[in-house]
Amino acid sequence: MFPRLATWLLIWFGITFPAYPAAKQWPQGTTTRFYDFKIQTTRVNKLCNSNEIVTVNNMFPGPVVYAQEGDRLIIKVTNLSPYNATIHWHGVRQILSCWFDGPSYITQCPITPGQSFTYEFTMVKQRGTFFWHAHVSWLRATVYGALIVYPKAGVPYPFPFPYEEHIIILGEYWSQDIVQLERQVIASGGVPPPANAYTINGHPGPNYNCSTNDVYKIDLVPGKTYLLRLINAGLNTENFFAIANHKLTIVEADAEYTKPFTTDRVMLGPGQTLNVLVKADQPIARYSMAIGPYISARNAQFQNITSVAYFQYSGAVPSSLSLPARLPNINDNLAVKTVMDGLKGLNTKDDVPKEIDATLFLTIGLNVNKCRSPTPQQNCQGMNNGTMAASMNNISFIKPTVSVLESYYKGFEDYFTPDFPAAPLRFYDFVNGAPNSAPNDTNAMNGTRTKVIEYGTRVQIILQDTGTVTTENHPIHLHGYSFYVVGYGSGNYNPQTANLNLVDPPYMNTIGVPVGGWAAIRFKADNPGVWFIHCHFDLHQSWGLATALIVKNGVGHLETLPHPPADLPRC
Ligand code: C2O
Repeated sequence: MFPRLATWLLIWFGITFPAYPAAKQWPQGTTTRFYDFKIQTTRVNKLCNSNEIVTVNNMFPGPVVYAQEGDRLIIKVTNLSPYNATIHWHGVRQILSCWFDGPSYITQCPITPGQSFTYEFTMVKQRGTFFWHAHVSWLRATVYGALIVYPKAGVPYPFPFPYEEHIIILGEYWSQDIVQLERQVIASGGVPPPANAYTINGHPGPNYNCSTNDVYKIDLVPGKTYLLRLINAGLNTENFFAIANHKLTIVEADAEYTKPFTTDRVMLGPGQTLNVLVKADQPIARYSMAIGPYISARNAQFQNITSVAYFQYSGAVPSSLSLPARLPNINDNLAVKTVMDGLKGLNTKDDVPKEIDATLFLTIGLNVNKCRSPTPQQNCQGMNNGTMAASMNNISFIKPTVSVLESYYKGFEDYFTPDFPAAPLRFYDFVNGAPNSAPNDTNAMNGTRTKVIEYGTRVQIILQDTGTVTTENHPIHLHGYSFYVVGYGSGNYNPQTANLNLVDPPYMNTIGVPVGGWAAIRFKADNPGVWFIHCHFDLHQSWGLATALIVKNGVGHLETLPHPPADLPRC
């Protein structure tokens, strides 16, 4: 009742209260859709092994959540697995619903085995390809699925309506207990083994052992146009995607429309989604759809077998060999840049912040800390007999034991500090130098340090890659917002020479910061809550490449985070 009343009051008094933005409305949603998620262990046969993996509803990938713009989603998550769990709704802006965002120890404590928690949020002015995933430990390796939001009834896509659409989720699969693997890797101080396979919709495809029939396939009607909703849910690897002999036309990135851009291949970092149109305009045959790694770091170990699915015309001989897709070389930075250069917002964006109230300069990169363990053989398997870490502004984020949001909301003082620095302590040659005064000192500090931001601040964040250990393209994801990617480039950011696009920048939630380079993003901090910003490589997240932005409440109930839900898990 009350929100309606408020709307009426706004209509009546809108002119006399010009400071009260008339567009604002309580995000209550039009249609409500209910889903039931049971997190559980499921036995699967893959890559010549039988394994227990964690799934939602015994499905891998998990169930697709469908909605329409403006709908309210109510998803009851029951944890029947032996591990702590949470679910994050990646890309959903969670307007006034930060409690339901999902990152463990940031907005909630985990749902412990046997407990449940009901997520409730509204798709306010959002439509497109999203996904959901576990946000605790490395459970995302198998706990993920698509979240597809259609435009409102009667609102068309800004491109010809496709004949069919298909969801293509890229993943990385390990034939071992993933929660244990994370623990072992962190305890070792070293790096994890590469994934056993890349997967397309959970299938490794015929290049892998015992996987000839563990392959995904799309059947095509010749001449028709298909919409592929590409999602990279992988843990630690960025991937190229290409289809043999077919062009891809990007029409949406991170659930926001883009100007159509046609290319032979795309690259998706973990956390990124792309909608592409593909026309089945080639001779009748079976073609490969393939994903293969984009490795921008030096000396990285990785799985080098590509994962293949079939793009098969009706009438093709089912047993015929599939024409191979041409993927770029693993370190083809130019292929990545070319696609990035092609991403432009569909329309001219009037709400790109032209003026900035606050700038955050965040260095992102890896560290090697000095061994502090009495048993270095076991715990210091990183480079130079140290322990691997990662950081923002040379601070490794340590997850607290009570969620930052709950601590902040209740005024607890012991679990985080509000002193995350708005810039690195020292400016130096980030790409070619090292952060500390001694040239080879690659140590990071530790802390649960957060950045507090006033409601309504127009924020610019400069993300600067460092070469402390190795330069690398990091997929940086911000919760609670989409941001305009107004610029990016190679080398150290220089405000004098940086070229910014304030006209039609893409509006994204995850940005692959160029290897040895920088990216500039802008948004208006008008959604109160605690919002995690982190590298979407789970390995780097575990190593501390993260921080949290605390956006304060504004004025009145339309700018204030409500009370926590009664079933919020306790720590
Ligand atoms: Cu998709 Cu914090 O993550």
